[in-house]
Parts: sequence; structure tokens; C-alpha cells
Amino acid sequence: MTIKRIDLDEIDSTNNYAKIHNSELENMTFIFANKQTNGHGRMNREWDSGDGNNMLLSLFVKENELINRFESMSIFFAVTIYKLLDSFGLKNINIKWPNDVFVDDEKIAGILLEGSIPKYLIIGIGLNVNEKQLKFDTSTSMVNSLKHEIPLNELKEKYIEIVKNELTDFKKDNSDYLQIANSHNYLLDKEIVFEYQNNFLSGIAKQIDPDNKLVIQTKEKIIRVNYGEITLKK
Ligand code: BTN
Repeated sequence: MTIKRIDLDEIDSTNNYAKIHNSELENMTFIFANKQTNGHGRMNREWDSGDGNNMLLSLFVKENELINRFESMSIFFAVTIYKLLDSFGLKNINIKWPNDVFVDDEKIAGILLEGSIPKYLIIGIGLNVNEKQLKFDTSTSMVNSLKHEIPLNELKEKYIEIVKNELTDFKKDNSDYLQIANSHNYLLDKEIVFEYQNNFLSGIAKQIDPDNKLVIQTKEKIIRVNYGEITLKK
């Protein structure tokens, strides 16, 4: 697998950069930035990018083998972040379906998939690394959890290696990503609120099924959702 890497200093958003440059970018280009002036998350929310302290990345993909399986990509990449954090010794890492990574009850990474299917896919990842002062009190970072800083470039190189290996397994249908997502399923057995056919419903979250859907037990029936925002019921 041939990998390209672009390192930007400051940019509005690495996802926007990938979109703007989609016609010239090669498949499997990792675009990192030190700073983002307009980093965004899902539902158009602001992403607190920090100032040179975090991993801000967009992976540009334009191979059919992956684009055709884009429904697996959120949870698959959440698991690659799980593996990265695990390799640096973090504990209590959990995956919040479909695309967040938590340490205990605090979010440490988020994933935003964008693109123009079937032309290309952009996997945008923000991981809080050496940021001590986080804007949102529901967030954490590697340094806050490990109590020591992490060399950012070493982390990025390690991450590229993990993605390479995991994608090789994924393409051979030999990936353990669903098993990991299920054994570290943040939502499991929690009461949640979710949107389904234009209604907000509540239910108990169960496993992630082989189609990457979240299984939810409501009072009346079992529902499987394939995307959407899940909130914990207060
Ligand atoms: C979320 O939790 O809602 C997803 C956050 C994704 C943030 C990353 S940071 C790198 C890339 N560029 C962006 O503007 N967003 C993603």
C-alpha cells in the first residue's frame, strides 16, 4: 500500500483542504495540520483544534474497495484510534458508535466522514493529544490521561502504521474491528435517545451488528440504526 503524507502548518480545516484538492490528491494521502482555524465536527459543530498540540488529520481515499464499504469506515477508523491509544498505554478506552472515542466518560477523539461517493472519501480525525486545557469539560486528551506528553510526530507515524496494517486485514475480510468495537462499546446497555424515521425515540443500546448498525431495544421492538446522533438519556 503506497502512502502519501502532507504536513500543513495552518489551514482552515484539513477536510476542506482534501475537498478542494480532491482532483490532484492521490489515494491514501494523510493530510496533517498543526492548527486549524475552522475545524468542524459532525452536525456542523466546532472542533476545538488546539494550537499545535493535537492530531488533526484527513485521510483521502479514492479506491473503490474502500469507498464501496464506506458504511464500515466510521467504526473501523474509531477502532484504529482505539488501537493507537492502547499502544500508548491508555486505559478505559471505549468506542461510542458510530465515530467517537472516549476515555472513561470523556471524549478524546472524533471522526467526521465526508466525500463525494463514489469518487472519493475523506476520513477526518481529531485526536486530543498534548492539550491540557480543553474547551469542553466533556473532553479529555492523552496528556490529561497519561500525565505525560507524547511526541506528536512519533504518534503520527505510529498511526500511519496502524492504519496500513488494519486496512490490509480489512481488505482480506480478516479485521477484528467489529469485535473490538463490541468489546469496548461505550453505549452497551445504556439508555439512549436516537432519531428514527423523523422521531426521537429512546431505548437500550445493544451490540453493533455485522452491518455496522447499532442494535437498540425499545419497549416495542428491536431497531437497527445505521447512522445518527446518539445521546445518553439523562
Ligand atoms: C466530531 O466529533 O464531530 C468529528 C470531529 C472531527 C474533527 C477533525 S479534525 C481534522 C478534520 N478537519 C476538520 O475540520 N474536522 C476533522
